[in-house]
Amino acid sequence: MLDLTNIHHTYRQGENRLEILRGANLRIEAGEMVALVAPSGTGKSTLLHLAGLLEKLQTGSIRIDGQETKGLSDPKRSALRAGSIGFVYQFHHLLPEFTALENIVLPQLILGTERDVAARRAMELLAQVGLKARADHRPTQLSGGEQQRVAILRALANKPKILLADEPTGNLDLANGSVVFDLIRDLARAGNMAVLLVTHNTELAGRLDRVVTLHEGVIQDWSL
Ligand SMILES: Nc1ncnc2c1ncn2[C@@H]1O[C@H](COP(=O)(O)OP(=O)(O)OP(=O)(O)O)[C@@H](O)[C@H]1O
Ligand SMILES: [Mg+2]
Repeated sequence: MLDLTNIHHTYRQGENRLEILRGANLRIEAGEMVALVAPSGTGKSTLLHLAGLLEKLQTGSIRIDGQETKGLSDPKRSALRAGSIGFVYQFHHLLPEFTALENIVLPQLILGTERDVAARRAMELLAQVGLKARADHRPTQLSGGEQQRVAILRALANKPKILLADEPTGNLDLANGSVVFDLIRDLARAGNMAVLLVTHNTELAGRLDRVVTLHEGVIQDWSL
């Protein structure tokens, strides 16, 4: 479902070249959930942004559901991203001027879903996580854990085949983090999604199917 092959990524800062990814390979099947655990600065977010088509690929190949993304035009990349990929950030990035419901409706409208249908789905999702009564709250009127739950629902609104999550529980206390983590896992499982989730919490990582790490720019199996 998600196939990253021989990914190299270098940041240039003036004279300096920072070779962050040096031939990373990762393949995640539909329904498979992979945790990425690695020290700060090793390139986890870089890898996720590349996989999410949010960052321009320099070298290598990224296939989404069998489709090569290299060389796609910007509109085609955007369409593929909107239709197939859900992204959860460490800090929710909800739109502050919109309600919880509207934040979940918007990505569906972008895909062309009718407003009524989108609103119904958003309400169903909110009900599933016990937030029906918070539908009309703006992000600042929600607790941190609630905001992150809404951000997850937003990422799942279009039933993506791939869910990418960059430290989705990093900003929450232990108890809330555990609840939000299990929510991602259960919703993704129900949708047979391929999941790549960054976390620093090895206990949470162990709840997924496989744990990998990034070492000197390549992906390694955690057990090695
Ligand atoms: N736009 C950029 N320009 C230059 N260097 C960058 C840029 N973005 C990231 N870097 C550098 O690349 C390295 C990897 O960054 P990245 O954000 O992928 O790390 P990370 O593994 O996600 O770390 P963390 O666990 O702290 O989030 C870091 O050393 C960072 O300073
Ligand atoms: Mg990061």
